[in-house]
Amino acid sequence: MKRIVSGIKPTGELTLGNYLGAMRRWGEMSANPDHEHFFFVPNLHALTVRPEPKTLHTDSRAAVAWLLAMGVDHDHSYIFMQSQVPAHSELTWILNNYTTMGELNRMTQFKDKALKSGAEGQLVGLYDYPVLMAADILLYDADEVPVGEDQKQHVELTRDIATRFNNLHGDVFRVPQPTVQSEGARIMNLQDPAKKMSKSDTDDSGNILLTDDEKTIVKKISRAVTDSGSVVSTGADKPALTNLLTIHSILAGKSIEELEAAYAGKGYGAFKEDLADIVVETLAPLQKHYHQLMSEGNTKIDQALEHGWWRASELANAKLAQVKEILGLF
Ligand code: TRP
Repeated sequence: MKRIVSGIKPTGELTLGNYLGAMRRWGEMSANPDHEHFFFVPNLHALTVRPEPKTLHTDSRAAVAWLLAMGVDHDHSYIFMQSQVPAHSELTWILNNYTTMGELNRMTQFKDKALKSGAEGQLVGLYDYPVLMAADILLYDADEVPVGEDQKQHVELTRDIATRFNNLHGDVFRVPQPTVQSEGARIMNLQDPAKKMSKSDTDDSGNILLTDDEKTIVKKISRAVTDSGSVVSTGADKPALTNLLTIHSILAGKSIEELEAAYAGKGYGAFKEDLADIVVETLAPLQKHYHQLMSEGNTKIDQALEHGWWRASELANAKLAQVKEILGLF
């Protein structure tokens, strides 16, 4: 049985970028009975930005509700909360001793922050973030780790840590493969197509949130920046239209060429109206399901978390016990 592990960070509201880049496939993926899927909420990772405790709690449950709304709801798929499985923290400490500062210094997520505001004031948690991520993956003998392009480097590090440990102590960890979805992996901000649509943004005008209502979606799309000219087409000089066409193409299941042909001579206005319609139509049923889950006293959410916790603990505790025994920690 193939194991697939992925985490969806509970910081900020999920966006259409998260949906198109990864989440929309999760329901279907997790339905495969030959695979065991673990989708967990890395709420310990979220501490690196010190979120408001109430917000962290709500966002974490919201992430679970979204997973269920996307159709991750099977006997052999598991949703769990990272902080409820203490083995993640414990294995992190152990793996810290199989990871060098040189490796962590090279992680672009940390490097970028350190370059921007200096390394001295950065939190150790942020620095160590990739090791916690390695523990998340290695505890479950994951075969595959579906991630966004920006997280690939962390999975490569996980492979290096696993290999190093195995070379010293025998065949303990399975060495995982990152799987990066190329299509839709980089949905850009509607106000600034040079930057990614990101759930950590404070200004939402360029991000479509999964919870946005129809009016908001229509407004954000009609105000999305466009490129000079009036032809609906992609191109290196048309980053804004390329982004909008990509979104449309994925949601409509049509190729970019088909869409370019369909909108020939029609201008940006008509194209944006149709795009807003299709975004609203796609999100409406998911939102309905999501709101239902969030309002029903969390019963479904709790049940899913219990189902996931049970299986995750079983595997994680066994792996941790094996590691501790090998290291003389008993
Ligand atoms: N770091 C990932 C992100 O920012 C989230 C994450 C944490 C994760 N642990 C993981 C993803 C393990 C895959 C596997 O999106």
